[in-house]
Amino acid sequence: MRTGVWQHSEVVSHWDRDENAAAYQRFCEDFAYYPSGSAALVRAAAIATGEKVADLGCGTGVTTRALVSRLGDSGALWAVDPAAAMLRVAQAAKWPQQVRFVLGDIATLVAQVPPESLDVIVCASAVWLPPNRHALLRKVAQALRPGGRFALSIPSEFIGESTHLLDESATRFLTTLVQVRQELALAPPLPPQLPIEPPSLGAWRESLSSVGFARIEVGVHPYVMTHAEWAAHLCLPVVLDGLLPLARESQRQQFAQQLLARLDPIAPAARPWHILVAWRG
Ligand SMILES: C[S@@+](CC[C@H](N)C(=O)[O-])C[C@H]1O[C@@H](n2cnc3c(N)ncnc32)[C@H](O)[C@@H]1O
Repeated sequence: MRTGVWQHSEVVSHWDRDENAAAYQRFCEDFAYYPSGSAALVRAAAIATGEKVADLGCGTGVTTRALVSRLGDSGALWAVDPAAAMLRVAQAAKWPQQVRFVLGDIATLVAQVPPESLDVIVCASAVWLPPNRHALLRKVAQALRPGGRFALSIPSEFIGESTHLLDESATRFLTTLVQVRQELALAPPLPPQLPIEPPSLGAWRESLSSVGFARIEVGVHPYVMTHAEWAAHLCLPVVLDGLLPLARESQRQQFAQQLLARLDPIAPAARPWHILVAWRG
């Protein structure tokens, strides 16, 4: 149970729980939200056989698997994650010998590979988690060769593109969520104490340009999920930590039951991903 506001240093510990890693793996087996985002990102990154690639924030290995299918048996792939519990799930699967797992973050990776040696760094649905965007991008640029690519996927609302949340179906889902939370007298998420870097596409472009990325391509992966999938996503332990910061386990369970009971499970809602590919100058 949380008792305070999330600090950056806490972020990894919320991921780093066996219960969370198992739930994330199950969610990715049952629903396509993360796997389809990863597949779209790997396509956009245009990975070629033989390239040296890093998968930053590899989690349970969903994106790593999509990358391996593009690399074949050649090239090299570093799969990096600071949450040991997530990495353990990934490592339990069978991998070709060119995949190396690294417990850590971008700084750990940079310490393990020669400067300017990687062709591509992919970061699927994790790029907003490191504490300092500029520091992250500087290190990414340091590890990539000139002309190398940084490819990232991010939920569109995290980059300031939120109009899909205003459509009728999404509004219905979000209204139900707030009602259930209020009826159970559960506290809403707390505002962050630390300054948040601006969540806009323009700000991302500026940050990327400022560390030497010369060309940036932006695409949208137009994912549509059912309300049942959306509810299952919200009920991942790491998401509930943020959504119901002070709730006990029994209250979390009540919340999940009530939410599912009230929703139309097959109602569709747009939940797009933004996909950015940036080329180092
Ligand atoms: C939503 S999961 C994405 C996992 C995987 N890329 C996928 O597509 O399924 C986010 C991952 O980012 C990791 N993470 C947390 N903080 C991080 C950081 N500072 N740097 C890199 N990854 C981080 C978490 O441990 C978690 O495994």
